[in-house]
Amino acid sequence: MYVCICNGVTEDDVLASLRAGAGTTREVKAACGMKPGCGTCTRRLCAMVAEHRRARETDMSLPLEALPAAPRPRPDVSPSADVGKMRRETAA
Ligand code: FES
Repeated sequence: MYVCICNGVTEDDVLASLRAGAGTTREVKAACGMKPGCGTCTRRLCAMVAEHRRARETDMSLPLEALPAAPRPRPDVSPSADVGKMRRETAA
């Protein structure tokens, strides 16, 4: 589908330029060889650049499940702690 009719630029052309490293609407226009025209395509180009940027940022962030769990405090398993606990429970 055409994004820019004045310059004959398609969505595939825009996506290819984004994948090649274009990061702004201006860079996409330059990469696609777009000359100034009616300007109708600018809003659509901006949306495509923003959408691509969001997708790239989302892909780079790790899901929470991938993060290591915080270390849990270890329960006191020393024999003296168990005896003390038993004594307190017995006395009560
Ligand atoms: S549609 Fe892109 S400049 Fe006219």
